[in-house]
Amino acid sequence: MCGITGYIGENKTTDILIDGLKRLEYRGYDSCGIAAVDAKGSLYLRRVSGRVDALDKLVAEDPAKGARAGVGHTRWATHGAPSEDNAHPHTDCTGKLVVVHNGIIENYLDLKEKLLAAGHKFKSETDTEVIAHVIEEKLKALNVQAAAVRSEMTEPVFFEAFRRAVNDLKGSFALSAVWAPCPGMVLTARMHSPLVIGLGKGENFIASDVSAFLKHTKRVVFLNDGEMAAVRKDGVDYYDFKGKKTAKDSVTIQWDSTMAEKGGYKHFMLKEIHEQAEAVENTLRGRLLPLGGDVLKAEMGLTSDDIKGFASVQFIACGTAHHAGLVGRALFENFGIPSYADVASEFTDRAKLMRKGTLVAAISQSGETADTLFAVREAKAAGAKVIAITNTVGSTLTREADYVLYTHCGPEIGVASTKAFLGQLAAIYLLAGHFAAARGILKASDARRYAEDLLKIPRLIEETLAQEKDIAKVAQHFASSEHFLFISRHVNYPIALEGALKIKEISYVHAEGYAAGEMKHGPIAIIYKGMPLLAVAPSGRTLELMAGNVEEAKARGADVVAIVDEDSRKRVKAGRYITLPKTDELFTPMLSVIPLQIFAYYVALAKKCDIDKPRNLAKSVTVR
Ligand code: G6P
Repeated sequence: MCGITGYIGENKTTDILIDGLKRLEYRGYDSCGIAAVDAKGSLYLRRVSGRVDALDKLVAEDPAKGARAGVGHTRWATHGAPSEDNAHPHTDCTGKLVVVHNGIIENYLDLKEKLLAAGHKFKSETDTEVIAHVIEEKLKALNVQAAAVRSEMTEPVFFEAFRRAVNDLKGSFALSAVWAPCPGMVLTARMHSPLVIGLGKGENFIASDVSAFLKHTKRVVFLNDGEMAAVRKDGVDYYDFKGKKTAKDSVTIQWDSTMAEKGGYKHFMLKEIHEQAEAVENTLRGRLLPLGGDVLKAEMGLTSDDIKGFASVQFIACGTAHHAGLVGRALFENFGIPSYADVASEFTDRAKLMRKGTLVAAISQSGETADTLFAVREAKAAGAKVIAITNTVGSTLTREADYVLYTHCGPEIGVASTKAFLGQLAAIYLLAGHFAAARGILKASDARRYAEDLLKIPRLIEETLAQEKDIAKVAQHFASSEHFLFISRHVNYPIALEGALKIKEISYVHAEGYAAGEMKHGPIAIIYKGMPLLAVAPSGRTLELMAGNVEEAKARGADVVAIVDEDSRKRVKAGRYITLPKTDELFTPMLSVIPLQIFAYYVALAKKCDIDKPRNLAKSVTVR
């Protein structure tokens, strides 16, 4: 949550900061701001309540002159309402020191009390502003006069004050600071919030994630918790919080910046829905055959012997990723492998019960979700091995897990997750196939069929996407409904949950996802005449029961949309149908979710909602 950017170099600092913020807006978008200094140490600061476009306009009306170093921020409010006063960057009492921050300073009230007693004046309700004043105190303690402009002492003094301040902070932070008398250096530090440095030629970048500066450089260095960096235009030095220099390796990111642009689609969400066949294909590529063999060994050190050694699999995740975990549970259980799925935030006690033979599969698009990371640490401490299923190279999760299975979906910008979910499902089906084959649960010919069926999924996704216009019509018909019900069973039960979540996220209307078998235990009572009910009912073991559930709902007035295949369509009597291409029942979640994503998209479009940046949400939830 919240995105930070930083820049130092000879190019147009404010443009680079603002462009970076636009790319990070998915992390939070209730207010934003930038600050930059010129070579003489004059500070330029602009903030707005609202979106980065408004900031861009404000800066264009009265541009900064000669700025060569700066920081920027787009906010998802935690402490203090979204307003210009609470927008970052925040300043100290002198107005010469600015900070931007992502995270939560847990001891800010203690610090604030002391600072107030020392005479500091606060202008916002945020925890972040405290940091600026703590640095100011440290500068004072080092006997610095702000007048010491361009003295050769400004850099070491600023560094030391910043370092000492960072050591006083408790909680999570990705932090960057600029001090006007020291225009040649931007300082940055990380603790439990993502932070990455981009290495350019004669310029360097700081950001919460690489998409902010990918168009300038793909060479990056990821900071770890407890690390800080002094970023100058000609180089970057890395330190621990004690001030000891550390050596860091750079990595080259494969994504290119155009992958994070809309490419002719009206919204990122729609573009990303259309990228799902590719996401699945890329995630499966080179990792499937031979199923049960040692194909994952070279990439992540996971051998078929390791796989045989795990007694159970525990999925943990949040949001949409949790729904992928629930599909995983059904799939592993289908193979007779004990499996569990929990939301990471409710895992604390169960984490302590993890044992050596459990493989904890932590699913996270961003690899930065605070609850998921917390759960991983607890599970590891209890003795479990952890596999990360993530889309983000270098994310915190990848550094904490024992094994990393990347989904290769490319950047996902829309806040409502779509292609990342498909990538997660592909990774889980891949893993389940290897588990079942390595343990002899899938015999050779069945394993081959499983792999073949899985490899056909990208083509079937394309066929499903081709029905977009028909699905859009169904969505338009129901667009003014205030309640939606989604039901299904077994592997598709999580898809009912995901369908409801998509509607809630981007249309702000009430939607419930239910296991169809639970209908008679309560939800059926809420059905009224004309209520939209979307039922996922593919052919297979759950069809008869689903057909019955649809009848019961219709009898009480529900207006049913059945997501079926050609065969199950004959059995389920609904008012409207969306017909999926045929695949084995086990693989249907990778197809059935697509009409529900498209449905949610067009309901939100008809309601004129801000689809890529839904209210109150952020893509990456980095606070607990
Ligand atoms: C937020 C996003 C969701 C996402 C969830 C987990 O709530 O809006 O789309 O599913 O976080 O994120 P992760 O990065 O861990 O998959």
